[in-house]
Amino acid sequence: MICHLNGEFLPLAEAKVPVLDRGFIFGDGVYEVIPVYGRKPFRIDGHLARLQRSLDAIRIRNPHAGIRWKQLIDELIGHHENNDQSVYLHVTRGVAKRDHGFPKDLAPTVFMMSNPLVMPSSEQLERGVVGVTATDNRWFRCDIKSTALLANVLLRQLAIDAGAAEAVLLRDGFLTEGSAANIFAVKSGVIVTPAKSHLLLPGITYDVILELAAQNGLPLEQRDVSEAEVRGADELWLTSATREVLAITTLDGRPVGNGAPGPIFRRMHALFQGLKRANGEPT
Ligand code: PDD
Repeated sequence: MICHLNGEFLPLAEAKVPVLDRGFIFGDGVYEVIPVYGRKPFRIDGHLARLQRSLDAIRIRNPHAGIRWKQLIDELIGHHENNDQSVYLHVTRGVAKRDHGFPKDLAPTVFMMSNPLVMPSSEQLERGVVGVTATDNRWFRCDIKSTALLANVLLRQLAIDAGAAEAVLLRDGFLTEGSAANIFAVKSGVIVTPAKSHLLLPGITYDVILELAAQNGLPLEQRDVSEAEVRGADELWLTSATREVLAITTLDGRPVGNGAPGPIFRRMHALFQGLKRANGEPT
């Protein structure tokens, strides 16, 4: 498998980073996961804009202009057989003597790899997946797509250990997001999701859902969503680059709505598939 490290394309097994890389020592870096459909990155401008915001937030200069990122991503895609891929890219602050404070003007480390994009199975689409609630115990900059994911890792594992696909996170009695996904609820035909804030990652798929809802006259509200609303929802969905939109049909062992993916989920899923076929452009 060919990956990219600091300007070079090379086999993954040969890619080596110094142990003093601050990504290794501190998790001092940011990343993106970009879905690729039919060899074309989906919503690439949105992903590159979010990368820029994450880099700005942690004060790393962007090592590449957008056009260069696009070239590198295209080249990486070209090294892989699958038409549908998931490109992971990651920028760390670089290599320095261990010290919490960071030297200015370090050369950032750039790493990229691509894996086949594994879509949700037809069984997951037909039956939905299991979710469990958990207390959101992360920091107050969840809007930064940081590689420092210890809390998310533990929350996802908590879900897996409970036989679930995702943790649905609650902070102070309100929904934030999942361990690696945004969350939407539906009640009486209205889609609700928390507004973007420092408490959740502004998902690129989240934006797609907002656009599709607006274009197709599906009522959607971005507002605080209480735990009671989550538990009483007719439908719950998770969204992410790698899972698209997926229904959560069991929460904490109880059925969500009637326990099957709901009609608004089915509509949104179909709209999403149409958008993919149109290569991310509005249909
Ligand atoms: N995660 N919230 C969190 C905490 C996430 O990690 C992700 C995505 C999302 C959804 O964002 P998007 O729609 O842009 O994928 C929300 C990726 C897929 C990951 O870490 O692998």
